[in-house]
Amino acid sequence: MSDKVQPIIELKQLSKRYGVGDAEYLALKDLDLTILPGEFVMVMGPSGCGKTTLLNVIGLLDRSTSGQYLLDGRSVERVSRHKQARLRSQKIGFIFQSFNLIPRLTVIENVALPLVYRGYSKVRRLKVASNVLKRFHLNEREYYMPWQMSGGQNQRVAIARALVNNPSIILADEPTGNLDSRSSHIVMEELKEIHEQGNTIVMVTHNASLTTYATRVINMLDGQIDTDIKTTADEDLPVAEEEPKKKRRGRPKKSAEKRS
Ligand SMILES: Nc1ncnc2c1ncn2[C@@H]1O[C@H](COP(=O)(O)OP(=O)(O)OP(=O)(O)O)[C@@H](O)[C@H]1O
Ligand SMILES: [Mg+2]
Repeated sequence: MSDKVQPIIELKQLSKRYGVGDAEYLALKDLDLTILPGEFVMVMGPSGCGKTTLLNVIGLLDRSTSGQYLLDGRSVERVSRHKQARLRSQKIGFIFQSFNLIPRLTVIENVALPLVYRGYSKVRRLKVASNVLKRFHLNEREYYMPWQMSGGQNQRVAIARALVNNPSIILADEPTGNLDSRSSHIVMEELKEIHEQGNTIVMVTHNASLTTYATRVINMLDGQIDTDIKTTADEDLPVAEEEPKKKRRGRPKKSAEKRS
């Protein structure tokens, strides 16, 4: 496939500063990153290098201090909080290491929660949530409370909640960090399936063995990208749109070189 596609996420010279004065700390430093639709990006790197900060900025949970952020080609770094929340609920699903389920709500109520922002009736919300839970084979546990479930099951509930709004981007911050290896495997298989259905995934992990699921592995160091490696030779992966100035007409150089 040779169609050029528009990046889904584009960060240009992005910086994030925490604190002021002596306590000032640059968690992200002039970071450039382009992610295409359908990529499965894993972000690795030592503790404190800025992985969560990066994910929170991409997920519109936090704002950059300087630089540009294009989401689906639209500049979003200066939009209002209200607009940020709306974009987030339309486009982005979050999965956290500690699941972040609401303990006093049942499984199905947790999954249905993001649909409140859509203005759906309660009956409709529960119906949609039930359908998503079915996909994760958790429909028999719809009325369990989170504390009655295993860690792996709770994380799958959290994934169902992240997907309930049909977002195109899934952001996962160490989603298997609190799970044993068997549950990790099940969660990764779910993410793999979501990726195969066309979603873009950006996942932070400390576990190098999980990178076999990724199409691209980014290593961060001190708020910057240290290495960025495509791990798959999948020809179906999209190709970045070229900068207009680089577009050439006529015969490609390669074939010209072959003639001699
Ligand atoms: N709210 C905050 N206020 C001040 N400093 C912060 C804040 N959040 C993060 N930092 C600092 O920014 C740096 C990057 O933090 P971040 O949480 O992004 O790291 P990380 O790569 O996710 O680490 P870990 O692997 O431990 O989760 C750290 O030095 C941290 O202390
Ligand atoms: Mg982190």
